[in-house]
Amino acid sequence: MKNKVVKKRALRNKTITLNDSEISNLKKRLIKINKVASLEEIENKTIHQDIFEVIDYLPDSFVDLIFVDPPYNLSKTFNTTSFKEMKSEDYEQWLELWVPKLIRLLKPHASVYICGDWKSSGAIFNVVKKYFKIQNRITFEREKGRGAKRNWKNCSEDIWFCTVSDKYHFDVNAVKIKRKVIAPYKDKNGDAKDWKESDDGKYRDTHPSNVWTDITIPFWSMPENTDHPTQKPEKLVAKVILASSKPNDIVFDPFLGSGTTSVVAKKLGRRYVGIDIDENYCCFAERRLDIADSDKTIQGYSGGVFWERNTLNEQNNGKNSKNKKIENNYNLFFNKLLEI
Ligand SMILES: C[S@@+](CC[C@H](N)C(=O)[O-])C[C@H]1O[C@@H](n2cnc3c(N)ncnc32)[C@H](O)[C@@H]1O
Repeated sequence: MKNKVVKKRALRNKTITLNDSEISNLKKRLIKINKVASLEEIENKTIHQDIFEVIDYLPDSFVDLIFVDPPYNLSKTFNTTSFKEMKSEDYEQWLELWVPKLIRLLKPHASVYICGDWKSSGAIFNVVKKYFKIQNRITFEREKGRGAKRNWKNCSEDIWFCTVSDKYHFDVNAVKIKRKVIAPYKDKNGDAKDWKESDDGKYRDTHPSNVWTDITIPFWSMPENTDHPTQKPEKLVAKVILASSKPNDIVFDPFLGSGTTSVVAKKLGRRYVGIDIDENYCCFAERRLDIADSDKTIQGYSGGVFWERNTLNEQNNGKNSKNKKIENNYNLFFNKLLEI
């Protein structure tokens, strides 16, 4: 990619791409901070800069929720920069360079979510436990990628849920999961016990656990997809934002990538600030923020609940056209191929 996307795409491919003229327009909106900034200067903005250059210039106590998806302890190229796998102790040292600096930015009731794969997760735990109260570890199933020949396929990631104090906002009712009822019990009056019947079957809105199996990693037929190599799904970030922030709160992401956190914050009526070192990724973020002006949908979240994977027909209450059903099956088939 470097400066522009020139890949040839299939007709059904919905990946967001940018041409040279779009990039040169979008990059005019990106900001850089070279002295102490006020909230007004950075609110709802994408900061195109190295986190280490900018973090000391951000305002005190402006953040309600931080979502951090840093480079994991893997060798990985992010367009113009790359991260090299290192000893776990050295990765801890790298985390020590910026994790403690987040504290100054947080309001007293704020929450922090930090993502990591199994190789990074232990190091993240060792560092964040020194500075925050760890409330939980979420593990989500990451159903994408090739199977390994001499190992178990790497199919999970962690998100450490931390808070500044034990006084924090958590709205479990905003993140319920709609599940098909297997045993539709009735009470002694013959009424459904905590489930409802619709045209598509019997459903119950359940409390979410810390194991998430309903996440789809963005791929080419999803409208949120970009060429970012480690883009997080909007659905995943929506769970975090809905549970741990209120409307109009400030959501901050210091490793914004393709903009998922800012985009979901905007769709859900929160304010946002995001930083990424790569100009193209910042432009993807701005493009997606534009799209969010007219399209607030978050795939897998509708009617105020989260739906299990591959339930688009049910989400539309059985009103899907035959063509839509064919498209869904086609997408499922190709998604499976990508997993092989
Ligand atoms: C794991 S990705 C984040 C992906 C993001 N959550 C998304 O949904 O697209 C990490 C990002 O950190 C950025 N990055 C790496 N080093 C950085 C630094 N020193 N300052 C700011 N951003 C950096 C990379 O460009 C990359 O986009």
